Amino acid sequence: MPEFARGAFPATRMRRLRRFEWSRRLVAESRLAVDDLIWPVFVFDGSGREAIESLPGVDRLGFDEICRAASTACELGIPAIAVFPATAQALKTDDAAEAVNPKNLVCRMVEAIKRETGDSLGVICDVALDPYSSHGHDGLVRNGDVVNDETVEVLCRQAIVQAEAGCDIVAPSDMMDGRIGAIRGALDAAGKHDVQIMSYAAKYASSFYGPFRDAVGSAANLVGAGKKSYQQSPAQTDEALHEVALDLAEGADSVMVKPGMPYLDIVHRVKQTFAVPTFVYQVSGEYAMLSAAASNGWLDRRQSVLESLLAFKRAGADGVLTYFAAEVATWLAENQ
Ligand code: PBG
Repeated sequence: MPEFARGAFPATRMRRLRRFEWSRRLVAESRLAVDDLIWPVFVFDGSGREAIESLPGVDRLGFDEICRAASTACELGIPAIAVFPATAQALKTDDAAEAVNPKNLVCRMVEAIKRETGDSLGVICDVALDPYSSHGHDGLVRNGDVVNDETVEVLCRQAIVQAEAGCDIVAPSDMMDGRIGAIRGALDAAGKHDVQIMSYAAKYASSFYGPFRDAVGSAANLVGAGKKSYQQSPAQTDEALHEVALDLAEGADSVMVKPGMPYLDIVHRVKQTFAVPTFVYQVSGEYAMLSAAASNGWLDRRQSVLESLLAFKRAGADGVLTYFAAEVATWLAENQ
């Protein structure tokens, strides 16, 4: 015992609870379960799979493969998938008209998934124009500006065609002002009261979306023009709370923070402040970083991915959109 210590040294032994695995499990405050996972998937108009260079291990899926993925998700117990279309360049236009075509790729994919899985699997669709616009922006562009109100009208029509195809949750990711209230009103007027809105409420203008833009083929379209006039600056936190408050007041059922790991402070503040269902998106750049380091042998894939997801739970997230979802669900099942 060190000379300076009086009585028992140290008075408090924090390590006692950490000594055995059973004890660490017993005191665990946060847990990751398959119920926390949402699986984002990319789709293309065809069959089979297409590799995405900047997302090794994540492929674009054709109709046959998306049906297999959907039934795999059900078997693994993943509650929901989010479907992102890689629209053929020839269908991309300035006015993103393909977004409101009831027979567009994402609508046909949703119908195929629903035929396969019925109500066993939640299906989420992004509401935003970037997979359909020739300029790669989430909204309509007039004189170099992404115009708000005119875009919102198109987004409402987009949400309705997705809901009519069978989508359970529409997820506006466009960051236009007032779109949640407008979309809620449009869905209700179309008799789609039960379709949920998961708002990308606090979405940052982030460089971590790079591989996603390769995956949906919007990177080339977006040359030179960023999304900083509608997505939030990474310098902001209070503004994220303001965005969430507005979206909830307009009728969002759940909210999302995006990206994930660099924005854990936002996840925490949103959950603490609003106590509503809060999701976080571990985005494509985060997937790319973790999987690149793991494939170089610099990180242990399984341990670092599980740790990254547990961190979201600890910060307050109720669920995580992650490209690792199927892999993680398999690992979690092995640990049962
Ligand atoms: C489209 C959208 C993006 C992501 C989800 N929906 C890209 C963007 O805003 O440019 C990013 C997801 C990811 O990087 O994994 N509005």
